[in-house]
Amino acid sequence: MNRRAIFLEVLGIPAEWVPRQPAGDEVGEEAGVPLAVEPAESVVAEAPAEVRAEALTEAPAIPRAAPVIDPADAALELAETVEAFDVPPPSPPPAPRAAAPVSRLPDPSGRAAAIAAMAWPDLADGVAGCTACGLCESRTQTVFGVGDTQADWMLVGEAPGENEDLQGEPFVGQAGKLLDNMLGALGLARGQNVYIANVLKCRPPGNRNPEPDEVAACEPYLRRQIALIQPKVIVVLGRFAAQSLLRATTPIGKLRGTVHQYEGIPVVVTYHPAYLLRTLTDKARAWEDLCLAREVHDRAGAEA
Ligand code: URA
Repeated sequence: MNRRAIFLEVLGIPAEWVPRQPAGDEVGEEAGVPLAVEPAESVVAEAPAEVRAEALTEAPAIPRAAPVIDPADAALELAETVEAFDVPPPSPPPAPRAAAPVSRLPDPSGRAAAIAAMAWPDLADGVAGCTACGLCESRTQTVFGVGDTQADWMLVGEAPGENEDLQGEPFVGQAGKLLDNMLGALGLARGQNVYIANVLKCRPPGNRNPEPDEVAACEPYLRRQIALIQPKVIVVLGRFAAQSLLRATTPIGKLRGTVHQYEGIPVVVTYHPAYLLRTLTDKARAWEDLCLAREVHDRAGAEA
């Protein structure tokens, strides 16, 4: 049995793809959009609805790389973690976020250009002392990013939450535990060939939506982190991060399943782990996204 089949079986999800109704704040109106791997140069696939519906039952199998760890164990652990944190969604569920598209702002002060030239120590210091937006007033500390600065894999989330603000590391709460298990299912581990960062380096108070000016002020930091790491693949977690990084307003259901580009680096979009904790049915889709990312990674490795 292949990894996907094992994973789905462990989660108790039928292996057959079936259309379903949109659900949840992350999904928008395109929950049923299937995988459609585009050539690496493509941006957003805008297949007509009938084509997507057809592809839903005919999505090609993605070649799998040899598993590094026992996939059954990893899938089981992931499923157990999900169950352990299977808390009911907040009531009422959060309103859909208006994405804050990042624009290349004019840079009269030369701040962005200066950040773009920084090496790691200056970049870390710059973030730690940043006062470019109002979030510096409410943060406990900045959350720079964590992991292997020569990693093949880079994961990009939205912004620190309460735990991250206290501990100074991305994804250390419940969502982080799920993320770690998702990495484990791929044979990866935090800090080992993986770097994790957020679009914002400071926590928005009360976990409110990031404001466009905050995203714009922080963008040079993430841009520089990506430029220094030069990962083989970027996995973007959740609609907000995806729309910010890709400068898009496209729903996540349409951004998924396609290989995008950021400064020449392939980008794969998947659901945010916090969303997956609330939405069991989309975990199988997240797994497909990770398999696509692995395919992209392996292809990049083969071409190198
Ligand atoms: N959610 C995010 O997007 N990033 C974190 O670091 C934690 C939660």
